[in-house]
Amino acid sequence: MTKIYGHRGWKGAYPENTLLGIGKAMELGVDGIEIDVHMSKDHEIMIMHDETVDRTTNGTGYIKDLTAQELKLLSAGEVFSYLPNYQADWNNELIPTLKEVLDLLAPEQTALNIELKTYVFPYHGIEELIVNAVRKYGRGRKVVYSSFHLPSLIRLKKLDPSVEIAWLLHQPIPGIDDYLATFHLDSIHLEQNLYLQQANSLRKYRNKTRVWTVNDSEKMKRLSSLEVDAIITDYPDQALSMFEEK
Ligand code: G3P
Ligand code: CA
Repeated sequence: MTKIYGHRGWKGAYPENTLLGIGKAMELGVDGIEIDVHMSKDHEIMIMHDETVDRTTNGTGYIKDLTAQELKLLSAGEVFSYLPNYQADWNNELIPTLKEVLDLLAPEQTALNIELKTYVFPYHGIEELIVNAVRKYGRGRKVVYSSFHLPSLIRLKKLDPSVEIAWLLHQPIPGIDDYLATFHLDSIHLEQNLYLQQANSLRKYRNKTRVWTVNDSEKMKRLSSLEVDAIITDYPDQALSMFEEK
């Protein structure tokens, strides 16, 4: 049965990468949550998609140039007032840390997909901080580390050979088998059209494939029939109700 992961929490309905959105996705009963991480100036792991706070908060600047305390002064909900179920108290939503997300997930066994946004700024030492935080606060939960940046995945595996690492791809890679074997990659996270266009040749990887970002119901159905391990969607509510109907 194809699993459902909420993309950036529940991006289609709540402020992305916030405790609010992650909590609401958990209430839905998603199988997993996908989040993005960067590192602050004082080496705190912060949950955000972009390198800067400009698009998703009421502040400006690079995450790497701001301390966690400075980042915690910003609203991570205010700019999402265009979403249909916006409420004024979203303005109080803050940028979460990885520890806060792990604490929120604690009561449930929801999987956590941590995407390391390390291809623009490599954030020296981020892999070690993340592995240590998950060891300390993860309480044995299933964690999948993903990244477009292969060196980050290699470092994570070196730090802890038992972790699951997933390579994010949005373009075809010739010789993918060699990469999987050489770098001990456990799974691949593929852009939806890339997977669908090459479904025949990629089918052998289906039980280690998660596909993003799948918001179209026909594509959800097709990917489910192709038996991929999971789809990552902005609309986990729609995906869950559609799969329940089947
Ligand atoms: O993890 C899959 C997907 O989230 C990658 O794209 O830009 O939404 O982080 P992006
Ligand atoms: Ca992501």
